[in-house]
Amino acid sequence: MEKGQRVIIRKPGSFDVFDFEDFDIGEIRDDDVVVKMNYAAMNHLDLWVRRGLPGVTYPIVPCSEGVGVVVARGKNATFLKEGQRVLLSPGIGDYLSESYGIHGETCNGTLSTYLKQKSNLWIPLDDCIDDKVAAAFPLSFLTSWNMVVRRCNVKKGDIVFVWGAGSGVGHAAGQIAKLHGAKVVGTARGSKISKIDSGSWDLLLDPAKDDIVSAVRDFSPKGVDVVVEHTGAKTWKRSLSILKRNGNLVTCGGTTGPIVKINLPHLFIKNQTIMGSTMGSFKDLKNEILPRVANGDLKVLIDRGFNWKDIAQAHQHLEESSAIGKVLLKIE
Ligand SMILES: NC(=O)c1ccc[n+]([C@@H]2O[C@H](COP(=O)([O-])OP(=O)(O)OC[C@H]3O[C@@H](n4cnc5c(N)ncnc54)[C@H](OP(=O)(O)O)[C@@H]3O)[C@@H](O)[C@H]2O)c1
Repeated sequence: MEKGQRVIIRKPGSFDVFDFEDFDIGEIRDDDVVVKMNYAAMNHLDLWVRRGLPGVTYPIVPCSEGVGVVVARGKNATFLKEGQRVLLSPGIGDYLSESYGIHGETCNGTLSTYLKQKSNLWIPLDDCIDDKVAAAFPLSFLTSWNMVVRRCNVKKGDIVFVWGAGSGVGHAAGQIAKLHGAKVVGTARGSKISKIDSGSWDLLLDPAKDDIVSAVRDFSPKGVDVVVEHTGAKTWKRSLSILKRNGNLVTCGGTTGPIVKINLPHLFIKNQTIMGSTMGSFKDLKNEILPRVANGDLKVLIDRGFNWKDIAQAHQHLEESSAIGKVLLKIE
């Protein structure tokens, strides 16, 4: 096979860390599938990996999500024919196990003209979902599905509060909660609020301007059943203040800082639960989320696309919190 080309981060740093390198695809083993990649998509995780994340081994090829077309396969990978469009599972293995991995974090990611990976990590795509949408949903929708459905069991009548209605995680969590019959309250700062589809949210607030705690109390005097947290230090206190008696706070991240305080009597007297959540199962990705994205029940908000050669600008755009929805990278 011809050589591939990929983006490589040799060591963590600022926007100048990205290099392009040629590489050999190497031997195609029995279970391998080689895919010519068309699109990768970015997540906040890519910013952490670029800046330097404990546990990441550099050099590393960034990005966890991607879509392409099968160009070669080993003899056991019979269910994926050449020419089949596929998306890559961002996660590798059982998401609850110690050995769980994520492309672009624990091994090389998707920002590569060709990607060789085991056949059981590729999901075939049919024509009703296009490449951009397919590339942009897996990590954030899987994370949010796990938080909203598996961890918090959101149901009809629940009130769910989501930070960052325009974030990868937030726009997915709001829709998933609504799909399960909840009323959803979201946030977006500054001019972003006017660009979020208000039809998807029962209430949208600007945390830079609105008093979140009293606005939520006006909407639901006893507070909310579920808070979807991923923003961390700067929002945590308000997240706990708006949480109802018996409510669940679920967190998958700490964008504004990892260290938070908990007022213990407040927590135990109100019988509240705080839980962590990371990624989700391959089964949910394939059987629950993909069909709902393909039939339009879940809509993937795409902010904009960059050519992969402009990876530095794409990072800057996401880092400046300019994006509303997902940032795509076209691989050429
Ligand atoms: N554990 C996991 O499996 C997992 C999976 C996915 C993501 N995560 C984590 O979850 C977080 C979100 O990821 P993402 O890819 O969705 O990020 P993203 O698209 O870059 O969005 C970041 C969001 O944070 C919000 N934000 C930042 N500072 C804020 C503040 N002071 N007050 C209120 N909101 C603030 C922004 O709100 P505005 O839109 O209002 O500017 C923006 O919507 C990251 O920390 C990521 O590492 C974890």
